[in-house]
Amino acid sequence: MALLKIARMGHPVLLGQAAPVADPTAPDMRRLVADMAETLLDSGGIGLAAPQVHVPLRLFLWRDADRLRVLFNPEIIPLDDMLELGWEGCLSIPGLRGQVPRHARVAWRGFDQHGAPVEGEASGLGARVLQHENDHLDGIFYLMRMEDLSMLGFTEELARAEAARDE
Ligand code: NI
Repeated sequence: MALLKIARMGHPVLLGQAAPVADPTAPDMRRLVADMAETLLDSGGIGLAAPQVHVPLRLFLWRDADRLRVLFNPEIIPLDDMLELGWEGCLSIPGLRGQVPRHARVAWRGFDQHGAPVEGEASGLGARVLQHENDHLDGIFYLMRMEDLSMLGFTEELARAEAARDE
């Protein structure tokens, strides 16, 4: 396993449409998933999409409770029209956080590392992570989803402001 270099905003690989994965069970996919898992755990993030490690293919990893999961060729289907605001950051945009509107509940489906179809539902933070990671496969950053850029800031400053408010 190896730590992969994370592409940052501005790199063209993050702006394109990623291609479907022909065979999730192929040896190079197994290696990629293992390396992405190590990279995600090392980063402390909660999700990582393949384009973020310079691989323009449709797969991502995310933390589902304490479990690290992978989804190939994912589809995310909103289960309600309600959008809720929540804080997001991105390993490709280090140091920043912003408030992003997302569907509160989604269904998800795709294929696991054995090529088996998998599906589920998620709400709250889980739904948010899935929408964020899936967006990376279509060249979309969370910043592009923000409606109020005054709700964007450096993590450090936001934490300082919050601490001052709580005093
Ligand atoms: Ni991201």
